[in-house]
This record gives sequence, structure tokens and C-alpha cells, in this order.
Amino acid sequence: MKLRTFFYGMGIGALVIAAAAMGWTFLAGPGAREGGRAGQKVVISALMHVDITGAWHELVARFNEENPDVEMHYIEGPWSTDTREALYTTSFLAGESPYDMVFMDVIWVPKFAAAGWLEDLTDWLPPEQWKEFLPGDLEGSKHQGRIYRVPMYSDVGMLFYRRDLLEAAGLEPPTTWQDLIVMAQKLQKPPQLWGYVWQGKQYEGLSCNLLEVLQGFGGSWVDPVTQEVGLDQPEAAAALQLMHDLIHKHKISPPGVTTYQEEEARQIFQSGNAVFQRNWPYAWVLAHQEQSPVKGKVGMAPMVSQKGQDGSGAQGGSGFGIYKYSKHKRAAWRFIVFATSSRAQKFLHLQEGRIPTRHALFRDPDLLEKSPHLSTVYQAFQNTALRPPLPNYAQLSDIVQRHASAALTGKVPVREALRRASAETGYVVARAAEAKPGQ
Ligand code: GLC
Repeated sequence: MKLRTFFYGMGIGALVIAAAAMGWTFLAGPGAREGGRAGQKVVISALMHVDITGAWHELVARFNEENPDVEMHYIEGPWSTDTREALYTTSFLAGESPYDMVFMDVIWVPKFAAAGWLEDLTDWLPPEQWKEFLPGDLEGSKHQGRIYRVPMYSDVGMLFYRRDLLEAAGLEPPTTWQDLIVMAQKLQKPPQLWGYVWQGKQYEGLSCNLLEVLQGFGGSWVDPVTQEVGLDQPEAAAALQLMHDLIHKHKISPPGVTTYQEEEARQIFQSGNAVFQRNWPYAWVLAHQEQSPVKGKVGMAPMVSQKGQDGSGAQGGSGFGIYKYSKHKRAAWRFIVFATSSRAQKFLHLQEGRIPTRHALFRDPDLLEKSPHLSTVYQAFQNTALRPPLPNYAQLSDIVQRHASAALTGKVPVREALRRASAETGYVVARAAEAKPGQ
């Protein structure tokens, strides 16, 4: 409640002054204020993910309160990013999208921008204000040099560990897979306490988990410059074999991990039933909530890797774009400016652990005191694993998800799964290159 007051303490006056001081064109967006007929509200909406803490609804309610001429609807969609992407795509293809804003995962930007579904926002903020965002998030908001998304929260895959259990055993957090496996085997007591939980379900999270292991073995997926496919290389075989072995050979991950998304892994770890967890940083703040059984017992570190390589987490994150054919672009822009402001990002961080996209917040004394782990996250941003930023990314990810899942569930041997994934990926990449000569 106290935290909520923190955000609510910001009146409209303060917001307007702060925004004006920052020079944002926001109250009108580029052009005049857009409103319905006298007394009528402009209704805007975005399809969002499940609101696990209620913080997003609170944010929207605050915006609606302060903007009596606009009513923002938070449409709560599925958790999985691929399912939401498919819903947006279907609505855009049908040509009658009910969404004015596009709440976009970093991986959707090239596809949605290339399809012409997004408003080009490059000139909606002066260049120096775009620079207030972290470089990875800003880069991920661009397609062919133009900006289509205002970064809302950032993400990077991290390793969570039970600090109390490691300390009691005299262990330092692992930096290699080898160490993680040995420690997990030593400390686990399945089924009450599993060694390591992660995202093994056939969905986008699996692509992120595989990419991290792959990069940690020195391998690559699709090189964004040369378009070379790395899935038939020995590093890829070692990476997928390791993920398979975590479940079937080392037995530190429950067989059910092949059905886990972020929330399943987080709930197991947060209930005290896992030693290690791979997840996004939001899990840290939630693990430290008042009623959490692991409060004060959790540490966070960069992802582990193969000995001799650097560990890196997948670069993730979401932001808001504007649907090109929305009739309410200016009202949508007002919401976007509100939701991506420092205060809103701070609120979402404290409520739900969402990582800010604004540089300045990583130096905010109040935030650093409440969330000392922010500096570890900031460090992790210096070396992230990037998913191929290509317009046909959804297809590439679908291929990897299908074949990796078949290998993890023991339906297809690892090498055969990768052979198929590599062949299909090569075909999609080649077709895309044919369609756009010179790119
Ligand atoms: C997180 C990340 C996003 C990623 C997704 C995978 O939401 O921010 O980039 O695609 O997880 O599940």
C-alpha cells in the first residue's frame, strides 16, 4: 500500500511540469489535442500480458483519472509472447484492429514495422530524449534506422540461486554449467527441492533459454549480418544435449520443466522448491515480497556458460508502438508518454520488478536502496544474447521451439532435431534473402 502511494503521490500537475521540463511534446503529441465530441471520451486500448500483480491496472486507472477525456482499456491477453503476437497479427491482417497501441516484445518490431502496421515514432521525441533510453532497448525499437517503439521495460535472462543454501554449504554462485550441475546435485532433494528450473515449454521462452546456452558454448543461431545458420555446428549440439541432460541424465530439472513458462518456474523457486532458476529479473522483486517464503534468501547472477566462455542472458523487453491506422494516435501517445515516464517505470519496478529502460533510474538512490540487484542487471546488459532481429523472426523461433522441444521430451535424438532445425532455418533465411535481394 505504501508503495502504491508512492506512485499515486504524483499528481497530474507534477506530471505535466516534469514532462514539460523534459521537453516532451506529449500532451498533444505531434499535433493538436485529440478528443471525442464534447463530453465524449476517446477510448484507446492495447492487448497486454496477464497482470500478475495488479500493478498495470493501477497504472491505467491512474492515467484514466488524470485524463478525463481519454479512457485506456488494458486488454488482458495470454502470458505467452508468441500467442499475443499472433493475436495482434491476426487483427492487423483483418484490417480492423481494435488496438490503438501495440505492446511489443523486442522481437516483434522488425516484422510489424516491415509490414507497415506501425507509426514511425522517430520524430515524436527529440533525439536527445531518445538517448535517455538504454541502448539495447532503443536498438530493439528500430527497424531500418527508424524508431517504432518507446521502451517500457527491459529484460535480460539471469540466474537466480538460493543464497542461504549455497552459503550453508560453503559454495560460491556458479559461473559454469559444470559447477551448477555439481552444486544442484549436491543440494537438491527432489521432488521437494529441485536443482534447477527454467523455461522448457515449446514457446518463445524456450528459444531464449536455448540461445543463452548456445551462446554460452560459443555458438550462434542465425548471424544477423552474414545470415549464417549455426544450428548444425558442434556448439549447438553441445548446448541442446546439455539442456536434455539437465532433465534426463543429471536429473537436476524436473521432467515437467518441458511444460514450464516463466511463471511456473518462478512459482516453484519462490515456494522454496528449487535451488537454481533461470528467469527474467522481475522474479527478484517478487521473490522479495512480504509473503514470499524465500524473502532475503535469494541471489542473482549472470547466466552460466561453458568454461572459458562468457555467460550472457537473452536481451528481452517490451515497449509501446502505435497502430498505423488507429484513429486515436494522439491519445495513444499521451498514454505511452505517461506509461514510459520515469515515475511509471519506477512504480512498475517496485510493484512487479520490471526493469526500467531509462538510464537515469539505474542511478536513482531510492531505487538502488530498495533494489540493490539493479546494478547486477545493469552489468548483465553489457553482454546480452540477441535473437536474430529479422522480420521473419517468428518463423525462425517456431522452428527452433518445435525441434528443441522434440529433443527435450525425448521424441527425437538431439542431433536429428538440430539437423531438421538447421535445414528448415536455412530454407527460411534463403527465401527471405531471395524476396529482398541485397539485404
Ligand atoms: C520476456 C521477455 C521477452 C521474451 C519473453 C519470452 O517477456 O521480455 O523479450 O520474448 O520473455 O517468454
